[in-house]
Amino acid sequence: LRFTEPGPSPVPLLADRFRAALSAAFGRKYGGVDPLIRPSQHADLQANVAMALAKDLDQRDPREQKRDPREVAQEIVDRLYVEDVVSEVRISGPGFINMTLSDEWIVAQLKRISADERLAVRAAALPQRVVVEFSSPNVAKVMHVGHLRTTIVGDAIARILEFLGHDVIRDNHIGDWGTPFGMLIEYLLDFEGGTGAGLDAFVSDTGAFYKAAHARFESDEEFAGRARRRLVALQAGDEATLRYWRRLVDVSMRSYNALYERLGVKLTDDDVKGESFYNEILPQVVDELEANRLAVPSDGALCVFLPEFRGRDGGPKPVIVRKSDGGYNYTTTDLATILYRVDELHANRIIYVVGDEQTEHFELLFAIAQRANFLFSGAVLEHAKIGLVTDPRTGSKLKSRSGEAVKLSELLDGATERATAALIESGRGEMFDEATRAAIIDAVAVGAVRFADLLVARDSKYPFDLDRMIAFTGKSAGFVQYAGVRMKSVLRKGGLTPESAVAPILIGAKEERDLALHLLDFGITLEQAGAAAEPHQLAGYLYELARFFTAFYEACPVLKDGIDEETRASRMALCAVTLRTLVTGLDLLGVPAPDRM
Ligand code: ARG
Repeated sequence: LRFTEPGPSPVPLLADRFRAALSAAFGRKYGGVDPLIRPSQHADLQANVAMALAKDLDQRDPREQKRDPREVAQEIVDRLYVEDVVSEVRISGPGFINMTLSDEWIVAQLKRISADERLAVRAAALPQRVVVEFSSPNVAKVMHVGHLRTTIVGDAIARILEFLGHDVIRDNHIGDWGTPFGMLIEYLLDFEGGTGAGLDAFVSDTGAFYKAAHARFESDEEFAGRARRRLVALQAGDEATLRYWRRLVDVSMRSYNALYERLGVKLTDDDVKGESFYNEILPQVVDELEANRLAVPSDGALCVFLPEFRGRDGGPKPVIVRKSDGGYNYTTTDLATILYRVDELHANRIIYVVGDEQTEHFELLFAIAQRANFLFSGAVLEHAKIGLVTDPRTGSKLKSRSGEAVKLSELLDGATERATAALIESGRGEMFDEATRAAIIDAVAVGAVRFADLLVARDSKYPFDLDRMIAFTGKSAGFVQYAGVRMKSVLRKGGLTPESAVAPILIGAKEERDLALHLLDFGITLEQAGAAAEPHQLAGYLYELARFFTAFYEACPVLKDGIDEETRASRMALCAVTLRTLVTGLDLLGVPAPDRM
């Protein structure tokens, strides 16, 4: 990512200044060294480069006397120009360079942020076209808790990249094609007897429907024969069969859309490009692989052998792209998908938000795409791995009592129930009218589920613990949302809005300064979260923001009598810019920020 002007965060700015000093002190080859600037307990920021550098200098010229890291630090500091940003530089310990940021500089950056609609978050100078593939449930199976994460994390990644100025294409790669459909359609017809009840049964419990169809397939020869013929008809594009297939897909889409809406996920029918979409170009893709001599016949099938991956026998691993019966598979479809996204959509970056159990599939897929020259344009493929949602009691994959995958809708119902109970327990339920209460419950339930999911690194597993999620303390949405409610209430009581509360910000108290410093890092946090496709970086930032605000709120009265006008106006303005940052950030995570709760 490259940007047009420096953002308000001190770290990249100081890193630039350090590189200049390093190059001036030790020669240009040291101009690229990372100065290792970190927040520290002893100062606002600390540069740790001197210790490593001293070692490096010793190695380069062993005849020299051992270099003292403190001296190295001094040589850097002597050439360091930071007076405009830093009020004090001190060398301590074995050679740490401690820096205190200047209050004037902090205030100037805050002013920049307050005055800017985008909170001084820079737009990418080189916007990319990014395909973010997420959610991707399978029509023939239930949408379960695993899809919850791929949906929520993907939605956040898409929102963040969009905010950074990239051209984002959301892509819901639903599993809407393949062998089960022959069986499902026949079962639907038998079940239905023309009444339409089969479709209801299918959506209301897809898992049970699938199981029953499968049991019938296994036990009933006649049925199995029909199912096979049906699959052939589907693949041959038989009109009537396609109509039944469309119905199954449509009812499923309707139930997905209801869930997306409930969760506030920005995915619509226009974003759906399921596996079936690529069906027609599969033969072409395989022909291309064959023409490149990348795919070769093996035991009747057509395979790509990847020498960098070892198969069971120790030889190169075969990846089947056309089965011996002429059918294609998951990998073939994914190869076609890459071609489409690169050739037709001109994607520069393709992010697959998919469970980490598919890691090997994507490693093989990406390797084939690379060797087949599908990525000639320099497009980058990334598997944004999603870890498991576990059961807090057992620590293993979350399952329902009957041992099946937990349905997403049931999970959300549970969250709503818990949020309702929490509101009643707190005794605040009566404070609001019916409609407000319902809105609060919704915001709390959806916020809790989404935020809990986004707080953990996406590739780590986490326990699904509703009680912890729906809490107003600790690392929870409720704590962060409640901080926002306080900010809004301060402004409301002061007769101001987030936009109108502008005034010179003073950072006298430690809590004011801490909060201010954290506000400077919003933009860089987004940039890093976008580059790594890691929304948890933003979630963590917002949790910290709520913490800094809460400390400020408790230590620095705003509305109390006896506060002088300048201080009051300053604190209002600080509240306002904090609120705008919080609301913008929460929105990028799809977490609602209620006005009251
Ligand atoms: N439908 C798949 C599943 O639920 C996920 C699709 C992943 N995306 C892909 N391009 N293969 O497991």
